[in-house]
Amino acid sequence: MDMSKLNSLPKEDIVKMAELCHLDTTRSTAHLVKELTTIFKQVEEKKNRYTRISQLGAKGKEGTVFLVANRTGAQYAMKTFASTKSDRNLEKEAVLLGKAAEFHISPPLIEYDLHDNFIVMEKLEGNLFDYLRDHKGKMPTRMQKEMIDIFKTLDRIQIFHADPNPLNFMFDAKGKLKIIDFGFAKAIDDKLAREHDTREVNMRFMPLGFLLKMRDLVPPTNFPYLLKHVAEEDQVHVLNIAPPPPNPPVSSSSKTTKSIKRKVVIAKEPTKDKARESTKDKARESTKDKTKESTKDKTKESTKDKTKQSTKDRAKESTKDKTKESTKTKEKKTRKARSKKV
Ligand SMILES: Nc1ncnc2c1ncn2[C@@H]1O[C@H](COP(=O)(O)OP(=O)(O)OP(=O)(O)O)[C@@H](O)[C@H]1O
Ligand SMILES: [Mg+2]
Repeated sequence: MDMSKLNSLPKEDIVKMAELCHLDTTRSTAHLVKELTTIFKQVEEKKNRYTRISQLGAKGKEGTVFLVANRTGAQYAMKTFASTKSDRNLEKEAVLLGKAAEFHISPPLIEYDLHDNFIVMEKLEGNLFDYLRDHKGKMPTRMQKEMIDIFKTLDRIQIFHADPNPLNFMFDAKGKLKIIDFGFAKAIDDKLAREHDTREVNMRFMPLGFLLKMRDLVPPTNFPYLLKHVAEEDQVHVLNIAPPPPNPPVSSSSKTTKSIKRKVVIAKEPTKDKARESTKDKARESTKDKTKESTKDKTKESTKDKTKQSTKDRAKESTKDKTKESTKTKEKKTRKARSKKV
């Protein structure tokens, strides 16, 4: 803006502008012009303090990330948002990122701006999705451990990330895994903990969510350390195992009931194991083939589609499943106890 034009504006316009800027309008016009000039200069400077260099990653749902440089030439990643992103949500995303960064699991937050709708953070190097594509779906145990440590830290600092997309994991300059994109994240409060029966919601859902997102591209068995941290009852979803047949109806005749129960207790376990083994093999075979033919476009598309289904939904689904499973397990235990008594 050409500041010299301020002097030629009518007094009423100057006063109106001064009011908007919360200045003391009882002061002289010359004083108001001086103060307004300072404010406009500050805004201009703030606006131009970063130069966009290039786009980083794909355009997201709410905005785009750019590689930017400040006046000293230092480079950062700037996540920009459409004006539809509310100040509250932008601030929440920035604050949660900043908190995670304090615990070294996310890129350090440089600043955020609710007027121009952006977050500036340290620039990271590459994402986990590309890494897995370039390394034939192999994720070193060290990296899997880093991922689990990230989830444990998130639980400790009471932030549920809720978006375990492989594109939301990136590497810093030293090759250490970091988590980005707190767009879906929220604080772990009592309500959330009650809803999911645990305060460790990241450990409960994030390894599971990650493996489910990757399932069609990389065999889950490529991530043994992560798989170890998925609840046993949820592994059936990851490994594509058919649920066990429904329980037989309970007969009123105690003699018949006993014999049926015994049969079930004896017969069920090997059948389950067999099913698990054969499904594992199938999963291994089919994912092997799929990995071979997967191209960058195809994988990106499919991951995008999957990402659309929010983790919240999945979390709900799997909590439902968990409840079902645990009820089944309880029933099984009761049956076992009863048949032992018999
Ligand atoms: N700190 C960073 N350094 C380098 N690249 C980054 C950084 N943050 C984000 N990116 C790139 O920008 C992409 C999109 O970022 P991000 O995941 O935060 O946004 P999004 O998925 O579009 O967000 P949302 O899901 O909230 O719409 C990332 O996949 C990554 O390629
Ligand atoms: Mg993202």
